[in-house]
Amino acid sequence: MQVFFSLPLLLCHVTVVTGVAGCHGDRDKDNRPRQNCTAGGFSDIPSGLDPTTEVLLLPVNQLSSLSWSNYKMFPDIYEIDLTTNKIHALLAGSAGVLLLSLRVLRLGSNDMEILRDGSFSPCPSLTELYLPHNALTSLPDNIFAGLSKLEILDLSSNKISVLPPNLIQPLIAIETLYMDYNKIQVMPDDWFSVKDIPYLYLSANPWLCSCSLGYLNGYLNDYEINVYVRDGADINGDAESVVCASPESSWGEWLTHYLPSMPWGVILPSDSPSAE
Ligand SMILES: *[C@@H]1O[C@H](CO)[C@@H](O)[C@H](O)[C@H]1NC(C)=O
Repeated sequence: MQVFFSLPLLLCHVTVVTGVAGCHGDRDKDNRPRQNCTAGGFSDIPSGLDPTTEVLLLPVNQLSSLSWSNYKMFPDIYEIDLTTNKIHALLAGSAGVLLLSLRVLRLGSNDMEILRDGSFSPCPSLTELYLPHNALTSLPDNIFAGLSKLEILDLSSNKISVLPPNLIQPLIAIETLYMDYNKIQVMPDDWFSVKDIPYLYLSANPWLCSCSLGYLNGYLNDYEINVYVRDGADINGDAESVVCASPESSWGEWLTHYLPSMPWGVILPSDSPSAE
């Protein structure tokens, strides 16, 4: 009789010691200890996860904020995936929370409208930061201060209308910048002054093709091979992806085709006196 009872008890016991319900542990391709808590119904970080976890996957859950101090329990954390949650705020938490090992942060498809200056200062080693499909309308000028190792920044599919003049200045290692599918009309002069970015995505913005885009036009003429579009995992060079939305006469034209026809730096009086 005892055999019939001990088998279920044994299975139950095994489940408890190997992990947290709703998560499963394995290793990523680089052999980092990973906890996969995808779609586990979590509204907070599940308790009881192995503190040696380096990759923590929490996509498709119900987390409503990101509090850095909650991740201090994973001293070697390398990647956090919070894609498709309900996060509307990054909580600075206690000063001095540093997640020095964190390299990859995925926050796409959340509810963020506002980010404050210093939002990412607790994780100065980030190399990849994904913020697509949020509701960001503007960004403070120093939002990315200190992210000197950041190589990939994804701000696509937001509602950003104004580019802060110094936004990318701290990003001395940036290689890939996704700014496509926003509401950007104008690029501040010298926006790329720090370095040219090898992979740049600017399509699907309502560019205002007037003198105010003279800088971007010049930049595209010099670095058109850096401009790309993507379709899923496929990427293609496409400098003609930067298309005018206004003024009306320019609608649908490629920026680089429309602008050179304009008389840069020359003021042409409409009624200049003709030579005698
Ligand atoms: C995580 O688990 C989900 C199912 O629970 C699976 O679909 C997904 O591929 C896993 N992610 C990784 C990176 O293994």
